[in-house]
Amino acid sequence: PAELTDLVRSHIREIPDFPSPGILFRDITPLLADGPAFGALVSGLADVYGGRVDAVAGLESRGFILAAPLAAALGVGMLTVRKAGRLPGPVIGVDYALEYGTARMELRPETVSAGQRVLIVDDVLATGGTGAAAVELIRQAGGRVVGLAMLLELADLRGRDRLDGYQVDSVLVY
Ligand code: PRP
Ligand code: MG
Repeated sequence: PAELTDLVRSHIREIPDFPSPGILFRDITPLLADGPAFGALVSGLADVYGGRVDAVAGLESRGFILAAPLAAALGVGMLTVRKAGRLPGPVIGVDYALEYGTARMELRPETVSAGQRVLIVDDVLATGGTGAAAVELIRQAGGRVVGLAMLLELADLRGRDRLDGYQVDSVLVY
């Protein structure tokens, strides 16, 4: 919804050359710190996804900030897709490429019910590596990915291409 896009845009801080030269960092902390704005974001997302999902999967760590209140607002459970080595077993893991090297995300498959409709939530869609790993984990665990909800999307990095076949909704696209 357009109101949500405007609300988010007006609460993002842009920091040049952070965390390294040439990178323009989009900081969501002003949005999170503003109670009415954060509340409006969560209830706006809940309006969009209400009745369509059985669980919300948050991607550690910034995705958790959005996924947890959204799951609570929807009255569904939250699944935690975590960085390697954080979850006690049994876990499944998927490796994905970073700009330099690789990373691994993990999930406890016991937290996913067969055929459950899962919405994946994260703060930023960049290259799509993190989102694609989450899709793979949910699928391996027997869940059905109904879509990915991203707060910000950096369109130049073409993350959407790596999520081909899945519904990707971004509140604000740069
Ligand atoms: C950032 C961001 C997304 C991911 C997007 O997470 O929060 O999760 O990168 O990048 P991608 O689309 O290229 O995979 P980061 O790994 O920096 O960790 P954090 O959430 O713990 O800060
Ligand atoms: Mg992240």
